[in-house]
Amino acid sequence: MQLLDGKKISDDIKNEIAEEVSKIKAKGQKVPHLAAVILGNDGASLTYVGSKVKACERVGFESTLVKMSATTSEVELLAKIKELNENDDIDGFIIQLPLPPQINEQKVLMAVDPSKDVDGFHPENFGRMALDMSTFIPATPFGILELLERYNVQTQGKHTVVIGRSHIVGRPMSILMGRKGFPGNSTVTLTHSHTKNISQITTQADIIITALGVPNYLKAEMVKDDVVVIDVGITRVADDSHPKGYVIQGDVDFENVSKKASFITPVPGGVGPMTIAMLLKNTLLARERRAK
Ligand code: GUN
Repeated sequence: MQLLDGKKISDDIKNEIAEEVSKIKAKGQKVPHLAAVILGNDGASLTYVGSKVKACERVGFESTLVKMSATTSEVELLAKIKELNENDDIDGFIIQLPLPPQINEQKVLMAVDPSKDVDGFHPENFGRMALDMSTFIPATPFGILELLERYNVQTQGKHTVVIGRSHIVGRPMSILMGRKGFPGNSTVTLTHSHTKNISQITTQADIIITALGVPNYLKAEMVKDDVVVIDVGITRVADDSHPKGYVIQGDVDFENVSKKASFITPVPGGVGPMTIAMLLKNTLLARERRAK
């Protein structure tokens, strides 16, 4: 079994990006600038956004954190998005999800200028992704592709089973694994809450990508020998013995599934850090495109 070490690979990617930033600076050009908008005080969301801002500092990007109250109206948020779209200093920005209930997520995602949509959630970018056109690929799926590529995990002709059809992970992942090229050329099954006899499907899988948010969901008896397992789950589970009062758990029963797997991502330290590295990569790409 080989661990797919997202922490190490994301550090490599961040170092590569920092080198690009040094070159940009040496030429006296503007460094990439990422903005993140967050509504409310959800602990997990604040932690994720904080990590994104910290990662910007580490690679030499500029960053702006826009904190708005949980009671922000849709009109106010749309006005903020318009401001970010028009601010020439901002190369890319993200609206941290989930949003409070008074806000229509689709309306918000549609309002982001596609050339600054480093999350890749705007329908224009999502459509371009499905059509194999150059675009921003959502950071988590992009990070998974990068992990598979850097560990040279074979995907061609393999049966990939994606568990969960979220717009952020499962749906784009199912498209990307079936695209032409590497990592791709895979035969994909997208499973979700209405899928019957899921074990019958997962035991046929060469590659399993779980993005469910149910701790310990994928058990050893649900996988075959030598399976490749990508665990996107990051659920906070209360644990008084831990200083923070919780531990992060993935969707996979790692202890037992890892005994059968050929490659597997740990949680934490697998997909999570890759997401942040790929958001930085998309922001660098946004800057390069805008500089042309
Ligand atoms: N919430 C959970 N994952 C993500 C992500 O990748 N981007 C944004 N904007 N919000 C998220």
